[in-house]
This record gives sequence, C-alpha cells and structure tokens, in this order.
Amino acid sequence: MHKISFKKMKSPHFLVFSFLFAAFFSLSWATSAHTHESFLHCLSLHSEDSSFISKIIYAQNNSSYSSVLEFSMHNLRFSTPTTPKPQVIITPFYESHLQATIYCSKKHGLQVRTRSGGHDFEGISYVSKVSFVIIDLINFRSIDIDVENKVAWVQSGAILGELYYRIAKKSNTLAFPAGVCHTVGVGGYFSGGGYGLLFRKYGLAADNIIDAQFIDVNGRILDRKAMGEDLFWAIRGGGGGSFGIVIAWKLKLVPIPATVTGCIVSKTLEQNAIKLVHRWQYIAHKLPDETYSSVALRRVNSSQDGKKTVLASFRLFFLGGVDELVPLMQERFSELGLVKEDCTEMSWIESILYFGQIRNKSLDVLLDRTFQSPLFSPAFKAKSDYVKEPVPEIALEGLWSKLYEEEAKSAGVLFVAYGGEMDEIPETATPFPHRAGNLYKILYAVGWQKEDNKNSQRYVSWIRRVYSYMSSFVSKSPREAYINYRDLDIGTNNKDNTSYAQASVWGHKYFKNNFDKLISVKTMIDPENFFRHEQSIPPLLSRWKKRGN
Ligand code: FDA
Repeated sequence: MHKISFKKMKSPHFLVFSFLFAAFFSLSWATSAHTHESFLHCLSLHSEDSSFISKIIYAQNNSSYSSVLEFSMHNLRFSTPTTPKPQVIITPFYESHLQATIYCSKKHGLQVRTRSGGHDFEGISYVSKVSFVIIDLINFRSIDIDVENKVAWVQSGAILGELYYRIAKKSNTLAFPAGVCHTVGVGGYFSGGGYGLLFRKYGLAADNIIDAQFIDVNGRILDRKAMGEDLFWAIRGGGGGSFGIVIAWKLKLVPIPATVTGCIVSKTLEQNAIKLVHRWQYIAHKLPDETYSSVALRRVNSSQDGKKTVLASFRLFFLGGVDELVPLMQERFSELGLVKEDCTEMSWIESILYFGQIRNKSLDVLLDRTFQSPLFSPAFKAKSDYVKEPVPEIALEGLWSKLYEEEAKSAGVLFVAYGGEMDEIPETATPFPHRAGNLYKILYAVGWQKEDNKNSQRYVSWIRRVYSYMSSFVSKSPREAYINYRDLDIGTNNKDNTSYAQASVWGHKYFKNNFDKLISVKTMIDPENFFRHEQSIPPLLSRWKKRGN
C-alpha cells in the first residue's frame, strides 16, 4: 500500500489553493472586522447617550466578553472552543438600546439572537453559524405585582424564580402557572407555551398572558392593541426568535390554596415499577384538575446490592391538603400504595423548591440565575414525544433496557400527564396545539459533564436510538414535539431563505395546523425575515406563493 505523505501533497496546485484559501480567509476576516467596526460606530451614532451604550457592548476583545457570554449559557454542550461565537453581545437597559441594535444589525447584515434566560435546548439564543449579535435581556427584569387586580407585568429577562419570589412576597394565595426549574427565562419560556405544576388546572403560562410589550423589526414598540390579535396570538406559543423581541408580558395571576401537597413515591424494577408505569397511563390524565402527575425514569445503583436498576419516581402535586389527596389516590391508583408519609404539605412557593429537588435551600435560591438544577445535567441533548394510546408493557420493558446502556448513566425519561384544563382549551386558541387527546408528554434527556463534551456524539446517538425505538408507540402524522424542548434533529431551515415545504417538516410537528397561521403572521410582521434562526417561522415569499410551493 502506498503511503501518501503530507509533503508529497504540496503540489503547485496545492500551493495555489493554499494561497487562495489564505487570501479568502483574510479577506473574509477583514470584511467581518469591518462589519463589526461599522456596526459599533452605527450604535454610537444612533444612541441618545453614546458614552452609556459603550458600557453595555461586549466585543470579542473586551475582557468581560467570555464571562458575559457564558453567564446565561445553560447547555454546556455549546461551551467548546469551536462553537461559533457572537461578534458582539449587547446588554441593553432601555428600549432605545434595543431599537438602535435592531437598526444597526439590519444595516450591517448581522443576525440578532435574543437571549432571556439562555435555556434553549439547542443553544439558539447564543449560537449561530452566521455573523451575529446577542441581545441579552439580563437588565430587562423588572416585575410589578398588582395583588388587588390579580395581574402582574414582568420583563422578559426575569427568570421564573424571580417572578415566583415577588408574587409570594405579596400573597400566599396567588400564583402563576409555570415550571419548577426556576432559572428558566420568562422570555423564551412564555414564547413557547410553558407548562408546569398548575397546567392541568389553569393551562400553560401562555394561556394566562393578557397583554405584552413588543418591539418589531422597524423598532416600533407595540402593545396588544397596537400589534393586533394575530400577532398577539403568535407570540404566545409560536416559539421565540421569529417575530421580534417581546420586552414584557402582562399576566393574569391565578388563585391557589394557602396549603398544597407534594408527594414522591419511588419504585425499582424489582418493586414492580414497569407494571405501575403501565397502569399510570390509564389513570393520570383522568385525575382531578387540581393534580399534577408525572413519572421520572432513571438508572440508579440499588441500595441493597449496589447493582444497577431503573427507578421510577411518581410525583404528585395537589392543590389541597394531604387528607384529601391520599384517599383520592387510594381509590384511583391503589396499586401505587400512596400513604401520608410519602407526602408533605407546604405553600405553593415551597412546592417549587420541593419539586426542583432543592428542599433544603432558602427561598433566596429562586433569585440565583446561575443555579445548576439537579434535574438537568450541565451538558445535554433532549427530545420530546406525545402519547395518545397507552404504551404496551412489553414496549416499556424495551425502553427500560435502553436505560441500562452505558451512555445512559445520566439519562432520564419523564412522562407528564395531560388532561384537565389542557383538554378544554381549543387547539387553535394559541399556537401550542397539543391539547385534547394526549395522555401524556415524554421528555427524553441524556446528560454529561462539560469535560465529557468530546464524547457528546455517543450520548446524542443513544438518545436518537431511544427516539427511533419509541416511534411506533407515540403520536404519528405528524410525530408531535414541544417547541420549548427544541430539537434540531426534526428539521431545520436553510441559512437564508427557506420554503414553506421545508419548514413544514419541523413546523407541523411543533404546531400542527397552527403552523400556517404562524407563517401568515410572520409574513405580515417581518416579511424580510430579519428575525431568523434554524427553526424560526419563515415568511411566505412572493415567488413561493406564485409557485404554490
Ligand atoms: P433562551 O434565552 O435561550 O430563549 C429561547 C428562545 O426564545 C430562543 O430562540 C430565543 O432567541 C428566544 N427568545 C428569548 N427571549 C425572547 C424574547 N424576549 N423575545 C423573543 N424571543 C425570545 N419548559 C417548560 O415548559 N416547562 C418546564 O418545566 C421547563 N423546565 C426546563 C428546565 C431546564 C433546566 C431547561 C434547560 C429548560 C426547561 N424548559 C421547560 C424549556 C424552556 O421552557 C425553554 O428552553 C425556553 O425556551 C427557555 O427560555 P429562556 O428565556 O431561558 O431561553
């Protein structure tokens, strides 16, 4: 066999190629440096206070650039030297800063990625393959709670924990229906729907938004009345980063009892877990609306002999006391054997810590944006499914066996029961279409430590195998998915223009028939597709309209 040495490859053609490559590279570097300088110059020209705006700009040569970038990066799969980085990060304080950034990015051909809490599963708010700027809303996080009228205004850069903390400071009988991982940002969470402990009683976060403050591609600041009902519909579940930037949201607060109950019952394979999970599928979606019910599957070492086993943790949240919940569960799901000792009574705000598995912390932890949730690994890949018919026991056994594979040491599968109010809200009420007819939703997640990023492909392959294995047992045509559990495996846009047909591949999975209305709203509000990313809603271009494409 002939070995071709690297030296031998240096033919004259190779040298010409190298020269051209180097010339191209330095030209494109010079062009991008020029764009970046012009962009910064534009910002100072278009800001009322140019000395102030310079303090909120972090270019790559700024000593704080990396720490600002990483501060709200909640999936360290994207914290590698080769992950593409923004040219500049802007942390605006005023609406005028947002207007100037949108104007100058448009003028100088830079893409904008808006970041609120930075929890996007695919890092969309801080990673892009094209030249881009991050607008980081960390300074837009004021919260105003009006107990008398049971409403609140919250800016997008606040995290869920801050919102909960401020509500609880003023009332112990008002709440807002959202998730238990308190570091999640309001901006992205509300944009994709947002489910949590109260969703079977009150619907999603998006179902409880009554007004918003929004900035469009032309820098216009619009409230609900000014933006019109179609755009107001689209921003409540149509996914972040497609239409413009939502600056703030007006929320309807919901009543809750002063005492709620949380219970956790864990069973191993040896304790009949598969049969219990199988049975749960017939019961959980029919429980009273006051109940939230989920099952988390993960691999552990058995406490008896240290051998690997899979643990199924049944979690119950109830808007009421333990004396009401235990008899209810004994009647509906006696096999689980729930007893009072499995449960704790607490306030709603304490239940966020209880289900976030941080029971021993003080409430101040809710204000900590950098807190690493024990429910998620620092680096991860996740996917979602919806289930309409109970999965057969034998199929659950197959899922179980996947959790014994080597890559699954930090993997988890979460089943969240639907039903209740989710069955009552029509599919078209918001862009989020997964309503009546769903027994539960599945979240698959596989995690690892940042140091193990070199093996990320192995973990990603594992989760793709699990997803493929589950295909016969979950929703079909389309195989539905949750936009806030973003998964680029299900389809992406092109770098520039994307046809309706191409975007429909992922669009119908997230939005079903609501996708078409999202396209028409996008075509109206941002026809040039300035706000775009790998899974943003594309506008309908006139040439596609003609071709009926
Ligand atoms: P991020 O800032 O990354 O934004 C996400 C997307 O929205 C990006 O495309 C971004 O550009 C866009 N965007 C952000 N702010 C915007 C704004 N102001 N205007 C317009 N677009 C904007 N979900 C759920 O429903 N229930 C749950 O319990 C949980 N729990 C959970 C825990 C953990 C640890 C993670 C990592 C994620 C969740 N999620 C979740 C999913 C979560 O709802 C989803 O990732 C949200 O998009 C995160 O919003 P952030 O603002 O944090 O993300």
